[in-house]
Amino acid sequence: MNVLGICGSLRRDSYNRSLLRAAAERAPAGMTIHPDDRLSAIPLFNEDLEHDTPAAVRDLRRAVAAADGLLIATPEYNQSIPGVLKNAIDWLSRPAPEEVLVGKPVAVIGASGGRWGTRLAQNALRQALFATESVPLPSPALFVREAQNAFDADGGLIDIAIGQSLDALLVEFARWIEITHRHRP
Ligand code: FNR
Repeated sequence: MNVLGICGSLRRDSYNRSLLRAAAERAPAGMTIHPDDRLSAIPLFNEDLEHDTPAAVRDLRRAVAAADGLLIATPEYNQSIPGVLKNAIDWLSRPAPEEVLVGKPVAVIGASGGRWGTRLAQNALRQALFATESVPLPSPALFVREAQNAFDADGGLIDIAIGQSLDALLVEFARWIEITHRHRP
């Protein structure tokens, strides 16, 4: 089971990238998580470019199409998702018949420095994913709040409760991938 880990932050010391790294280290048996850094190379979406899709977009599309599922770690920017993440979703949602998100199992997680731990961003992300006809894991959710306390200086996850919640989420995600693949038309 190959899962592509997408980080919604381009920041070098991103907590969300650290969260994805922790997920990769803790992936349950049978699941491999590959954190991906392709978002920084994706140009701004422009319908005019769709006829001659940029190589970076084609590359990301191929990686998404080949993955059994996506694990998206999003920060919260102004109570929503960062533009780079929405931009990538817009590219991945088009054009027919290359809509690689259709039917794709997706797990949403997120970390922020605030007290609400990306609740609003994850809601916004689920709304966009709904439009893409991907199949987000319904529950559990993982909201990493006050992320500065959850990771050490090297980005290692030091919060035991968050680690346990992450483990539980990944086990459910493995089951979700199996279920959605079984019911694929
Ligand atoms: C933020 N941040 C933030 N946090 C939050 O909980 N709610 C919010 O609405 C916002 N808004 C916001 C806007 C912008 C433009 C920035 C740059 C930041 C703080 C943000 O969650 C924090 O910087 C995280 O650490 C970003 O995630 P990474 O880069 O660590 O993965």
